[in-house]
Amino acid sequence: MVFLGEAPGADEDEQGKPFVGRSGQLVTDIITKGMKLRREDVYIMNILRCRPPQNRNPLPVEAAACREYLDAQLAIIQPKFICCLGTVAAQNLLGVDAAIGTLRGRMIDFEGKRVLCTYHPAYLLRNPSAKRYVWDDIKILMADMGLPVE
Ligand code: URA
Repeated sequence: MVFLGEAPGADEDEQGKPFVGRSGQLVTDIITKGMKLRREDVYIMNILRCRPPQNRNPLPVEAAACREYLDAQLAIIQPKFICCLGTVAAQNLLGVDAAIGTLRGRMIDFEGKRVLCTYHPAYLLRNPSAKRYVWDDIKILMADMGLPVE
């Protein structure tokens, strides 16, 4: 199982680990409180290797420059399931332009993997009321993985 985010932030750059800042705490909650797994049970990675200037969204050329690392990681891990966190992860992994609102809420078959897209945790920090949609999505993923859903 892989969680796929956008790019490291300042905390991630400092520690050299993905999702260790405030957004990361939400990812940890999804994994541990929601899915009843441990962070060590899943692999967490990003589309980009480093944060674009001023935290802007990655340009296509930047995502393309990092793609070989993403593909190499996936080739090594061979995850059965990928959870795309946010638009950048979903659009870049799947190679589509669709909005996250239309990609979320269902399992998508992609290159032999089952993919679930949901909102980015940074969006949830700004819009806590959207947490219920993420939980709905995660329950779809858990059911697909054969994990017990409350
Ligand atoms: N931290 C990450 O590692 N990825 C994100 O997308 C956001 C914060």
